Amino acid sequence: MTTKAWKVKAEEAVPAALAEAASLLRKGGTVAFPTETVYGLGADARSTEAVAAVFAAKGRPSDNPLIVHIADRSQLEELTAPPEEAVSRLLDAFWPGPLTVVLPVKSGVLSPLVTAGLSTVGVRMPDHPVALALIAAAGCPVAAPSANRSGRPSPTRASHVLEDLGGRIGGIVDGGEAGVGLESTVVEYAGGVLHILRPGGVTQAQLQEVLPDVPVVGASAGLDAESLPEPETPRAPGMKYAHYAPKGTMVLVQGEDPAAVRERIQRELDAAKQRGERTGVFTYEEHARHFEADHAAVCGRLGDPDSIARKLYAALRSFDEAGVTFIAAEACPDEGIGQAVMNRLRKAAGGHLLTI
Ligand code: TXA
Ligand code: MG
Repeated sequence: MTTKAWKVKAEEAVPAALAEAASLLRKGGTVAFPTETVYGLGADARSTEAVAAVFAAKGRPSDNPLIVHIADRSQLEELTAPPEEAVSRLLDAFWPGPLTVVLPVKSGVLSPLVTAGLSTVGVRMPDHPVALALIAAAGCPVAAPSANRSGRPSPTRASHVLEDLGGRIGGIVDGGEAGVGLESTVVEYAGGVLHILRPGGVTQAQLQEVLPDVPVVGASAGLDAESLPEPETPRAPGMKYAHYAPKGTMVLVQGEDPAAVRERIQRELDAAKQRGERTGVFTYEEHARHFEADHAAVCGRLGDPDSIARKLYAALRSFDEAGVTFIAAEACPDEGIGQAVMNRLRKAAGGHLLTI
């Protein structure tokens, strides 16, 4: 398959390119597009054939449901039961934006592949002019997982999408770099409690601020795949899979004493070098000068956690580009957007955590 590429400016409304891409979606094709979080791989969420093509292109397990993207709040009524008041308050506060809400799905309105057999669907309205214009022009709900091969870091640039999916998808709208850099926060309101199923672009503190009277339970409080007691199924099925991982082995080092953490990282790098590995360090601008490795991925500034989120996936991908076989990564503070960053780093490390 040839992947058609359209280049558009984030500020432009509906240039001819978007009309063409929308028409491909309506015909059952797969089209990657930018959102404010990461690039998504879109398909008409009503068409089983189109949605099957998304799963095939990504190599995604069929038990992992897709998020449905809409351009207008009125589209939500067609897809789900009316949201409870607490959820409505979240939508008022964060839509369009990096928040996905899981709601009971109406029967017969979406391909059953989208929800992977669940009785709920995750819905989100992205805050990106190109995404909104494309979804509106397509005139259908657009199922869109992140546009990476399953297990790889999510794409924040069109070039990442082409690396992973070039030749496997119908088209890509290149709208420049995604803004937030990591995926939406996935939440479900149940039994008077807001559960964060996947931490992301909207922080726990931001959610709590909008719902001061509702307990907001974070993924770290037991819903994250790593901390889940077996055999309970994670509430967001995708969280149980290895994810965001570079090809090399990655060790994530965390601890109270920054100097001790840095020393341990360098020791891990030196030992790996001795074994004949090609080494990489994942660190931040403030600390980059402390390390010696074959490749350094300097992922934003500790003093500006949003910059860490923005650069995270390109930094993880850079290890593969540099042929790195062993990575030592420095943890960042597990607060605010850092909670989502640490969630992705823990997954990228596949459970190789060193706490010192
Ligand atoms: O920012 C984002 O959310 C991006 C952009 C493209 O919108 N999309 C994205 O999709 O990250 P994906 O498929 O890579 O991740 C969707 C996550 C998975 O962990 C999935 O299991 C969970 O959302 N999810 C989807 N529907 C769900 C449902 N009905 N119940 C629980 N979890 C659900
Ligand atoms: Mg994904």
